[in-house]
Amino acid sequence: MDSNFQAVLQKAAGQQPLSKEDIVTLLKAKPGNQQRELFALADKVRQQHHGNVVHLRGIIEFSNYCRNDCHYCGLRRSNRNISRYRMTVQQVIEASRRAIELGYNTIVLQSGEDPWYDVNTLCRMIAEIKKIKNVAITLSIGERSKEEYQQLYRAGADRFLLKHETADRQLFSSLRPGTSFERRLQCLQWLRESGYQLGSGNMVGLPGQTLDSLAEDILLLKKLDVEMAGIGPFIPHPQTPLAGQPAGDLQLALKTLAVARIMLPLCHLPATTAAGTMHSEGRQMALNCGANVIMPNVTPLKYRRLYQIYPNKAGVTDDPQQSLQKIVGIIHQVGREVAAGRGDSPKPVFQKGY
Ligand code: 5AD
Ligand code: SF4
Repeated sequence: MDSNFQAVLQKAAGQQPLSKEDIVTLLKAKPGNQQRELFALADKVRQQHHGNVVHLRGIIEFSNYCRNDCHYCGLRRSNRNISRYRMTVQQVIEASRRAIELGYNTIVLQSGEDPWYDVNTLCRMIAEIKKIKNVAITLSIGERSKEEYQQLYRAGADRFLLKHETADRQLFSSLRPGTSFERRLQCLQWLRESGYQLGSGNMVGLPGQTLDSLAEDILLLKKLDVEMAGIGPFIPHPQTPLAGQPAGDLQLALKTLAVARIMLPLCHLPATTAAGTMHSEGRQMALNCGANVIMPNVTPLKYRRLYQIYPNKAGVTDDPQQSLQKIVGIIHQVGREVAAGRGDSPKPVFQKGY
């Protein structure tokens, strides 16, 4: 068993292809030496391909309305217990201006799936932000049509995050009623064809999720050859059908992150807010096992406590400047520096020399 772990780790260190069984072996790394060795390899791969810097992405959560009813998420439409808000185009532009003044070179615009923002409104938002500065714009707004994705790209959006959430089809359809895994993959394909730097990712520790399906998650990210992947622990929200379920294991989330780093050396991997919520040093741990990105919240203070995907989200009481200070502190604490520039994917096709 232990010698098998060593054999697979050697294979991983040599950048040889890993099978699903190999990945499961790595995900079973025991606390202590095995886990330390896995994390050390991931950290080495991160250092080789991304160096000592951490990229910052300022995230604006501009609407907490969602047409979907995902069983894990506090923004689900059946949750009548939260106040809903929508920021106006002007408010989003002002929040972006503030983020740009604070030094951000990437703005992430995230919302629930909220069709209230039609594609022209979103295009206007993107174009106005680009007029302030040619920051990178990442959209995280869920499923849309191919034409809309193309139009948003032409308006100036550079990147798109659409997590596949779980590669286990049964789990996907039971946890995301009214949506389908096939449609999700179709959207990811459309985004790829539209020219975006593509992000996806999954949660770790969903009720009923197996190590086998986590291995499938990583293999899917590899197949999609994503430029970014968000991998974080599941945290139960009290006003959802998954209230009372155990949270995902942070160590397992870190192992999944580490294997993703080893298998996708060029990919941008954030130290997620969910990791920072599960443990006061969760993001530091993630930065030490493969992560090279942090996404500080730049949502205006009055809205951010309402964007409760899961409870006790790290940083909800901070304003954008305080969030930034805390996160720069985390980066320095682990001996790294804040990256300059937009932090585009290191793949040659995305290095356009902005
Ligand atoms: N715990 C952790 N992450 C969650 N997300 C949604 N609900 C939860 C939860 N309860 C993640 C999903 C989604 C992103 C916005 O937040 O991956 O894509
Ligand atoms: Fe909506 Fe996304 Fe939450 Fe699902 S996970 S309910 S799509 S915000």
